[in-house]
Amino acid sequence: MDQKKLVYKLMEFSALEAYQVKLYQSQIQALEDPHIKHVYERFVMREQEHRDFITKQLENYNGGINIAAPAFTLAGIVSGKTLDILSLKDRYKLGIAVEQKAIQMYHEFIEMTRHDPELSELNKKLAYFMIDEEQHQFWFKEHLARLENV
Ligand SMILES: [Fe+2]
Ligand SMILES: [Fe+2]
Repeated sequence: MDQKKLVYKLMEFSALEAYQVKLYQSQIQALEDPHIKHVYERFVMREQEHRDFITKQLENYNGGINIAAPAFTLAGIVSGKTLDILSLKDRYKLGIAVEQKAIQMYHEFIEMTRHDPELSELNKKLAYFMIDEEQHQFWFKEHLARLENV
């Protein structure tokens, strides 16, 4: 895979993971149920783990390459003050949407790196991380369903 393209993708993922860390971190305070707080704390740890790995990869591959950081936006995603007043259902819906975007992005990156023998370790890590994102989404979907069935 072209090194410039790889660095660009890693920068995109660095932004995605930083966003996920911030998204879950910023909601913990407003959560009341201790179990749900722990779930969000655990999600933050996982997203941070993803971010740290991507940062390390960037350090490895970024030698001398100077490219503009990709503009990372998630359309329609709320932030800041709005997050404080969200209902639990809306928090879960937001989580499902963000994780969906993450799963899609991981899926594409996995496909891009699949046939490059030099990237086989990275490819495996990406697959593991995508599974983490899927698990996050499963959790949100399950708990949203529980709320909607009462
Ligand atoms: Fe992540
Ligand atoms: Fe996630």
